[in-house]
This record gives sequence, C-alpha cells and structure tokens, in this order.
Amino acid sequence: MKIIKLNAIDSTNSFLKELAQNSTLENFTVVSTENQTNGRGQLNSKWLSEPHKNLTFSIFIRFSSLEINHKKYLNFAISLAILEVLLDEKLSKLFIKWPNDIMSVNKKICGILIENSIKGSKIKSSIVGIGLNVNQVTFRNSLKNVTSLKNETQKEYDLDVLLKKIITKIKEKTTLLNLKKFNILEKEYLNVLYKKNIPTMFKNNENVLFIGKIYGISKIGNLLIQLENDEIKEFGIKEISFA
Ligand code: BTN
Repeated sequence: MKIIKLNAIDSTNSFLKELAQNSTLENFTVVSTENQTNGRGQLNSKWLSEPHKNLTFSIFIRFSSLEINHKKYLNFAISLAILEVLLDEKLSKLFIKWPNDIMSVNKKICGILIENSIKGSKIKSSIVGIGLNVNQVTFRNSLKNVTSLKNETQKEYDLDVLLKKIITKIKEKTTLLNLKKFNILEKEYLNVLYKKNIPTMFKNNENVLFIGKIYGISKIGNLLIQLENDEIKEFGIKEISFA
C-alpha cells in the first residue's frame, strides 16, 4: 500500500483530489497527515482534530463497474470497515449513525467524507476521507458528543499501526462491492444502525421537531422513518437531522 505522509496540509481530501487528476494514480493511494489545518466535514462543516493525536487521512479507490445507484453500498462498506476495526480494538457498543458517523454508545468517534468522481451512470473513483479520534482526550465544549479511542479504552494507540489496519479492512470490504455482494453489506449495516427502531427526536429542514423511529434505508440511501401515525417517510441528508 502506498501511503503519502505529509507533516501538515489543509485537507487530505483536497490534496488527494488534486493528485487524482493524474489518471495513473495507483489504486488505494493514501494521503495521511498528523496536522490537518482545514479539515472538511459533511454539509460544508469543518473537521477539527488535535495535531499528532488522531488519524486524518484519505484513500483513493478506483472502481471498474460501480453504478451510481449503488452509491449507498460504498458508504456501507467504508463505515462497516471502520466499525469492524474498532470492534477488533475491543470497543463495544458501536453504531453507525446514518449516513456514516461512527458512534461509540452515543458519542461520535469517527467521521467520513466520501467524494465521488462520476462518469455517465458509474462511479469511476472515490476519495474516501476519514477522521478518527484516537489519542485525543479533551474536546472543546461545542464537541460534547465526541469521544476517542483513548477515552473509551484508556489505552494509547500507535497511529501507523491503526492506519494500516483500517486500510486493509477497507480493501477487504470494498471487494464486496466489486463482487456485488450488496445484500451482505445492507444486512450488516442495518444491524448496527444507530437508534434503529427506537423512538427518537428529529428536526426537519424547517426546524420542526418530531418523533419517529428509524425504520431502514431506502433504495437510494435515504433514511426511512416511521412516524407516530405509522406512516413511513423518506428523508435525504439535507432534509433531516437528529435533534
Ligand atoms: C464528517 O463527519 O462531517 C466527515 C468528516 C471527515 C473528516 C476527514 S479528515 C480526513 C479527510 N480530509 C478532510 O478534509 N476531511 C476528511
């Protein structure tokens, strides 16, 4: 595996995206830094990470035949890979909060930002960015619902060892995509879906609070919520948040 290590960079996703302009970039090239100065998160948020404590890296993955309408399975494969590595590190009570936050009990431990390059109806390649809180123990007040491996297990981790374990697991899980074993990924994802079937407070895009139970994931990867009147409604990423 080819790992490019940078002392500091604004965003490993942005850096790798530039590299990927070169069509000969090796599959599974990784860019990693211990000091990401302008990390990007989902929905234009920022990803903050204390220097030299955590993993912030991106992986370039090329696909031979992955349909855009199978995009959700890529998300499933990546988030399940992280979850499985954390299980191996003896964290228990891990969940995936839709679409792809990894939660330890009810605190976020890892964020994932997947940026796809699309041609026609296919995903040609992806930049998979991962921010995993590892040895950081204090978080600013605005990050109350955040944790790290060290906070969960009281152990200090070797970042390089952990990085290699994650890359290996991601290779393994994305093989299932090439083999079109989508049912396995769907089943595994639904098994660990955060708050599935539990009455939960949500906020819609008009800031209205409502209670519902997560029922599953739609064909195109949206969240299915069973409302109090038993109606099942579908929500896209910009249409709903956990309150
Ligand atoms: C999120 O939960 O909002 C996603 C966070 C993704 C952060 C990672 S850190 C490495 C990579 N480079 C970035 O700029 N973002 C991702």
